[in-house]
Amino acid sequence: MKALEGVRILDFTHVQSGPTCTQLLAWFGADVIKVERPGVGDITRGQLCDVPNADSLYFTMLNHNKRSITLDTKNKSGKEVLEELIRKCDVMVENFAPGALDRMGFTWERIQELNPAMIVASIKGFGPGPYQDCKVYENVAQCTGGAASTTGFLGELPLVTGAQIGDSGTGLHLCLGIVTALFQRTKTGRGQKVSAAMQDGVLNLCRVKLRDQQRLEHGPLKEYSQFGEGIPFGDAVPRAGNDSGGGQPGRILKCKGWETDPNAYIYFITQAPVWEAICDVIGEPEWKTHPDYAKPATRLPRLTEIFGRIEQWTMTKTKFEVMDILNAKDIPCGPILSMKELAEDQSLRATGTIVEVDHPVRGKYLSVGNPIKLSDSPTEVMRSPLLGEHTQEILRDVLGFDDRRIDEIGASGAIGEVVSIAAE
Ligand code: COA
Repeated sequence: MKALEGVRILDFTHVQSGPTCTQLLAWFGADVIKVERPGVGDITRGQLCDVPNADSLYFTMLNHNKRSITLDTKNKSGKEVLEELIRKCDVMVENFAPGALDRMGFTWERIQELNPAMIVASIKGFGPGPYQDCKVYENVAQCTGGAASTTGFLGELPLVTGAQIGDSGTGLHLCLGIVTALFQRTKTGRGQKVSAAMQDGVLNLCRVKLRDQQRLEHGPLKEYSQFGEGIPFGDAVPRAGNDSGGGQPGRILKCKGWETDPNAYIYFITQAPVWEAICDVIGEPEWKTHPDYAKPATRLPRLTEIFGRIEQWTMTKTKFEVMDILNAKDIPCGPILSMKELAEDQSLRATGTIVEVDHPVRGKYLSVGNPIKLSDSPTEVMRSPLLGEHTQEILRDVLGFDDRRIDEIGASGAIGEVVSIAAE
């Protein structure tokens, strides 16, 4: 069996944050029923399209292992179907704009009336406060959660990161809240609200920067490059380029081929316990005992000079050669891997972290599989559903409706045109 087998999720999510969460639940074995607007569906089905008439990769890569029902939940008959689904499901997950669910008529109180055991999990941009009514996308969350102000180089523009910490990061947070609430429900029998705000999720991931904000009140942040460069600190945590966020200084250094390959770089960490090994590798054995270099504290004001010397060595090797040499001596480092290199990485394929999926319209494509591995609940990645592909099946098998009732619902316009499974 799968870990969440028997758990039924009413998936009212769209775009990225919510679908990330419900995809994980589906991978852990929950029956995830994605409710989509007839004829339209999740807006990402048609965003950033690369293959004509096929669901975009944006959609397919975030909605594996789910079933799709099309339902107009503003239509009277559609609302009745949704009420039935609420009775039959364990968890509702939604990431509509603030107030949208209430406007649809499904307040927390109403949902409780229909199913007191239901867990209602929501992602919003902000928690209660001045911005609670705002619509929010990924980069807004990165900017308001502390990531952008602390990312980038000193004196330059704040930067957003490629990692979707606002969307996928908050989806992960919500997922943990849901399984925790499910666990509590086994003891109380009651549902509860689970909320994750994107600003909060990003701030949680920027925890070390709030740490540094408080350290700053007690003096300069000595592990930041600007300390060694003699640049005074202001009153807020500055952008620190590629400095390490931990106590071990690190930098991105050029490797052989950097002139033409934008990813011929390695992240190099001068971890204190392996300092002597580093000195030997780069050909500076006298640094092991020299008073300017032997101790971490004396190295801090000289990091630019030290990393400059290390880079002279890394530039003589490819990033993979550097990796091999350093790993043999337990010196932590990481080559800058391009998306192309990751896509072709056979070890990631072997673990199912990168999977090839077949889709009836677009054909084969690559996706990121489940990054969380459970030994007793392995993940099998199944393609995303076509819009409304499971509408009939869900009305019949989950809700127990007969043909007459299904025809009536169809005639009301609540489910739109039903996609034939024969499309496969
Ligand atoms: N049937 C009928 N109506 C439906 C429906 C369905 N099956 N599904 C959605 N709708 C309606 C909603 O009720 C809403 O109607 P309303 O405006 O009358 O209340 C409408 O569709 C639009 O929903 P909304 O969530 O406002 O979409 P949007 O495209 O305007 O905004 C976001 C998108 C992402 C900005 C917004 O949903 C949001 O801020 N979400 C929370 C934060 C979040 O998750 N952001 C990250 C997304 S990756």
